[in-house]
Amino acid sequence: MAMVCLTDFEKYAEEHLSKTTWDYYSAGADECCTRDDNLLAYKRIRLRPRVLRDVSVSDTRTTVQGTEISFPVGISPTALHCLAWHEGETATARAAEALNTCYITSTLSTCSVEEIVAAAPNGYRWFQIYVYQDRKLTEKIVRRVEALGYKALVLTADMPYVGRRHNNIRNQFKLPPHLQFKNFNGLLQQETAGHKKYHTSDPSVTWKEVHWLQSITSLPIIIKGILTKEDAELAVEHGVQGIIVSNHGGRQLDGTLATIDALSEIVGVIKARIEVYLDGGIRTGSDVLKALALGAKCVFIGRPILWGLAYKGEEGVREVLQILKDEFRLAMTLSGCINVAEINRNLIQFSKL
Ligand code: FNR
Repeated sequence: MAMVCLTDFEKYAEEHLSKTTWDYYSAGADECCTRDDNLLAYKRIRLRPRVLRDVSVSDTRTTVQGTEISFPVGISPTALHCLAWHEGETATARAAEALNTCYITSTLSTCSVEEIVAAAPNGYRWFQIYVYQDRKLTEKIVRRVEALGYKALVLTADMPYVGRRHNNIRNQFKLPPHLQFKNFNGLLQQETAGHKKYHTSDPSVTWKEVHWLQSITSLPIIIKGILTKEDAELAVEHGVQGIIVSNHGGRQLDGTLATIDALSEIVGVIKARIEVYLDGGIRTGSDVLKALALGAKCVFIGRPILWGLAYKGEEGVREVLQILKDEFRLAMTLSGCINVAEINRNLIQFSKL
């Protein structure tokens, strides 16, 4: 089967993963309006390409937090990669390293951070974290990933409670007995009773805990899950280094704006004081182009990585990233831009569809 676009990987994954795993990966909250709108929103935006420019040489590189990556697409944190492929996150890490892009490792990985770093020692990585009721546990994890060479902490802010994902509830989805949340091995007294404890953030967390995180780490802090200009402004006031405009792939609050629709107001108040990233619904190179034109410095993808893993492990993830990179280069040059610095708001036309 020739894999030509990301939806080919989606089809493959749906056909080959167990129903429970497919349901877990594809789930959105409630009626899945936000999950689906994340994709549809891109179709409502049209491009205004410029022509007769010399696009014979082009460059897809950009930087995030001062580090160069080969194209403006990184990997969002998603849990449980071993459900898709036996090597789990180590395969993802190798693919990210090979493509020279940023891999945000989920706290809820099924390989440990030590295994991930050992598998791809030269990879550029950030670590996604929750602040737990047990602050000592949180602090131990922060210190550990900092010592391992992770370059930023991504605090997920949109999950004080888990959204209602109907199929997961029906399937009574839980971690299969042969897998573990390996980052917590040896850290919790009662492994099973602990599960609930570390699945989500402490729901009482506020900006106060952002300050606490800043006091225990020298890593940049990036807040994931911002959807409004009000919270974007607060993020700057509280001294974080970046935000990810995200609705958790539509898995948390159903009925929010699609992330691409939330981006403009946020970019408008941030005024380039910190970097703004986005995830949710990116499936093609022109989606990436549209997000950059509307002010995102870089985008991240969640589910397509899981589909790539399900297809062929490291090789599958490499293919997913390579296709998106090729598509992005093509969309960029067909719109008359030879590098990411040339991409701007003039490329965008909101259609009335
Ligand atoms: C996620 N997401 C997520 N986010 C996070 O901060 N920590 C996590 O552990 C997870 N786990 C997770 C598992 C699965 C199966 C999915 C699909 C998503 C959310 C993720 O980081 C990201 O916001 C979305 O996946 C982006 O949307 P797309 O690219 O999947 O449409």
